[in-house]
Amino acid sequence: MPELYVNVDHVATLREARKTNEPNPFEIVKLLERTQVSGITTHLREDRRHIQDYDIKDISYYVGNSHLGFTFEMAASEEIRAILLKTHANMATLVPEKREEVTTEGGLDVISQSEKLAEFIKPIKNDGIQVSFFVDPVLNQIEAAKNCSADFVEIHTGAYANLFEAYQYQSDKNQREAYFNLLKNEVDKINQAVIYARGIGLKVNLGHGLTTKNLHMLMKVRDIKQYHIGHSLISNALFYGIEKICEQYLEIINPESPKL
Ligand code: PXP
Repeated sequence: MPELYVNVDHVATLREARKTNEPNPFEIVKLLERTQVSGITTHLREDRRHIQDYDIKDISYYVGNSHLGFTFEMAASEEIRAILLKTHANMATLVPEKREEVTTEGGLDVISQSEKLAEFIKPIKNDGIQVSFFVDPVLNQIEAAKNCSADFVEIHTGAYANLFEAYQYQSDKNQREAYFNLLKNEVDKINQAVIYARGIGLKVNLGHGLTTKNLHMLMKVRDIKQYHIGHSLISNALFYGIEKICEQYLEIINPESPKL
């Protein structure tokens, strides 16, 4: 069965906006343990804009004693690798990282740095941690990942997600149809990439920009091991929780008010 991994960076993003203790990604991990999700994903960025070193320590210790898997997203940085090797992560996903980007905008260019990446991942694999490369749905990047001895590729679904967003908001019928065709092409491209990766012995994950709305069309892409989802899932959690928490506040400030 395909597995869901929840990226909790976005919880830390909210905390870092205030530099307080809440919301604490670690507390969310505890709640996630009570669900059917298979694991947690974090990205310890070099600029520490969301997840901090102490989050990694807490989360790693907790998931190490639970049934949850732990995927550690990272740039090919020696400093970050040293931290990874002290965790209970069972997968390291190598991603490109630029300081000026808002989120991981494109896949890793494996071809242009394949020798460096092949060397970089050796100690990770020797430590028993599986390695995944986050790549665009481009066949020669996937082939290069295999040549570096990656175990997985995670196909970047950001381009698909952006097209879906544009399609959704098209009111003009012809434009909508044109976007729908583009979307179908992108799904085919992802499908071909997955078939190719599986054919050369790689396991495949999908991630970036996935939502409850845009996931349906991607279900025709088979043989996916894990879906790594963050922003939209955490955003939706606000909607599903807001009514309950307002009731709690109202009960404190107005305890006499009759219950509905
Ligand atoms: N997979 C990877 C490799 C990522 O870098 C990200 C973004 O942090 C995700 C999955 C999750 O993307 P999103 O937050 O858009 O769901």
